Amino acid sequence: MTTNYDPITEQYKRSKQQPWRTFIECFTLLELAGDPQGLSVLDVACGEGFYTRMIRERGATRVMGVDLSQGMIELAQKQEAQNQQGIDYIVGDARELPVAEQFDLTIAAYLLNYARTREELQSMCNGIANSLKPGGRFVTVNSSPMFHFPGSPSFRHFGFETSASTDWQEGTPITWTFHLEDGPFDIENYHLTADTHEAAFRAAGFNEVRWHAPQLSPDGLTNNTPEYWSPLLSNSPITFIECVK
Ligand SMILES: C[S@@+](CC[C@H](N)C(=O)[O-])C[C@H]1O[C@@H](n2cnc3c(N)ncnc32)[C@H](O)[C@@H]1O
Repeated sequence: MTTNYDPITEQYKRSKQQPWRTFIECFTLLELAGDPQGLSVLDVACGEGFYTRMIRERGATRVMGVDLSQGMIELAQKQEAQNQQGIDYIVGDARELPVAEQFDLTIAAYLLNYARTREELQSMCNGIANSLKPGGRFVTVNSSPMFHFPGSPSFRHFGFETSASTDWQEGTPITWTFHLEDGPFDIENYHLTADTHEAAFRAAGFNEVRWHAPQLSPDGLTNNTPEYWSPLLSNSPITFIECVK
């Protein structure tokens, strides 16, 4: 199990090809991000640049990606070198965000769930709030604090499974196992409650906090029924949050 992405950069990139990522995760996150045309955008925990590239392609003028993993940033930079989009990628820790500039929009896909404690979450939220201009928005997707991971059903037919210890409290590790054609790999993140998140956003200076349920892209119904998707839509292991500074 790892929170270090350096050894799993390629595997993680391939896990983004699973259909639920496209039709639920990506669809909902980009809907919440809205039209980035003309905006400056920071992607925190950008990984190998999955969303960073999409936001740039959709018209954001200035785009920067930050990630803790040197390996992830190298993979992002390799793709930037192959297809130059003018995105800046830097290695950095969101608990001490190394960004002086202020942006119109900051996004983070699966960052906050790496906070093991309220203090770590607060540091991340403070840095994110500081990265935004007044009125700027923060949009994120995470493991859902409302989902009871110790009692998780199987999500195997979507290509992943989740589990956690029955000692369910703040800081309890959550394991995500992704099944790829060449075998599974695990990542680990952590549980903090929804109230802890709300308090951290407010203390960081966000005026509005809205939680959003996952949405299914209409294209997701081309090959699968609503019943197929329902485990990811009702009582979902992921949630989306939008905050306005
Ligand atoms: C699940 S991956 C998501 C990557 C990307 N956002 C995506 O959706 O493809 C989580 C990423 O968070 C990064 N990460 C974890 N803790 C971090 C921290 N404290 N600061 C910055 N990045 C962090 C990891 O290195 C990893 O690349």
